[in-house]
Amino acid sequence: MQTELSRKLGVEHAVFGFTPFPAVAAAISRAGGFGVLGAVRYTAPADLERDLDWIDAHIGDRPYGLDVVMPARKVEGVTEADVEAMIPEAHRRFVRDTLAKYGVPELAEGEAAGWRITGWMEQVARSQLDVAFGHPVRLLANALGSPPADVVARAHERGVLVAALAGSARHARKHREAGIDVVVAQGYEAGGHTGEIATMVLTPEVVEAVAPLPVLAAGGIGSGQQVAAALALGAQGVWLGSVWLTTTEADLHSPALTRKLLAAGSGDTVRSRALTGKPARQLRTEWTDAWDDPAGPGALPMPLQGLLVAEAVSRIQKYEVDALLGTPVGQIVGRMNSERSVQAVFDDLTRGFERAVDRVNRIAGRSGQ
Ligand SMILES: Cc1cc2nc3c(=O)[nH]c(=O)nc-3n(C[C@H](O)[C@H](O)[C@H](O)COP(=O)(O)O)c2cc1C
Repeated sequence: MQTELSRKLGVEHAVFGFTPFPAVAAAISRAGGFGVLGAVRYTAPADLERDLDWIDAHIGDRPYGLDVVMPARKVEGVTEADVEAMIPEAHRRFVRDTLAKYGVPELAEGEAAGWRITGWMEQVARSQLDVAFGHPVRLLANALGSPPADVVARAHERGVLVAALAGSARHARKHREAGIDVVVAQGYEAGGHTGEIATMVLTPEVVEAVAPLPVLAAGGIGSGQQVAAALALGAQGVWLGSVWLTTTEADLHSPALTRKLLAAGSGDTVRSRALTGKPARQLRTEWTDAWDDPAGPGALPMPLQGLLVAEAVSRIQKYEVDALLGTPVGQIVGRMNSERSVQAVFDDLTRGFERAVDRVNRIAGRSGQ
């Protein structure tokens, strides 16, 4: 599964893997793909430094990338406390009441909420970049919007490629104008923040819109047949996020959540604002139902919602409250039915890809070629 882009990056397979787990990122690159570590959870630069050191020590001579959430527009002088102060009391009460209804215990005294979405803040994302540029990161991806011009310039000075996610051809053109090198066309069926256009429709639209820039197809890809389809649509590779969540290298800290993912079907996700305030695909739970219910207060805009629910999400995860327990994941969760190593996922992808190519060759009357 080689393309011009995979050859440029020196990887065997044009399979890019987004993951919040360093061990998974390293395993993806070791298996011949391109691992990309998600940095949004790292609010302390020292933690990111530690985990990139770990990757450097365990990845051999394989390349890898980092994904940050860097806003293109600067918001000067806004602190987390300023954002907290904007949260209405009625929303805080709704969180308290919902947790009480399900009997979710409190965190221990002094125990910090594990997942605060502050990686979106300009200063946090910039401190992540300062760390990243001290490591042999080969690709920098930006989740929400085009990265600022000075960041693109800084990456290019160091020979680092810049990628950005796009949910529409219009977004993709904006990225091209911002001088980025790779567009990730992410369809509606993807886990995490998504737009409204399906991968099958979006990929060729984006390929045409930004040609000759390379495009990676993302959203709903979990088999080699789907990789073949994406490459047939003009993509130079695929970008997978969900499938790694149930690999043996992933560290979800919750056996109950792993069980839920393995049992879920492709119809068990929802695109909800419950987690961050922007539509993000995730497991449908009674928590997402509560936020999506028109009778409730509804989610606040980003970044308020993320701050509002951070502690609640930590409590739900820590105590594995089954009815409320969820995670961002895409519709491909329907075929994530067993825990496998990252290498086993790659073996399956390459086998499926070969089968798909054989099948298409037979249909085209080219068998034996
Ligand atoms: C648990 C999870 C967290 C994600 N977080 C981010 C993120 O922080 N930044 C980002 O660029 N994309 C994020 N994504 C989206 C992935 O980068 C990727 O585009 C998406 O997972 C591809 O679709 P798939 O889920 O069908 O494989 C996340 C996806 C998942 C499943």
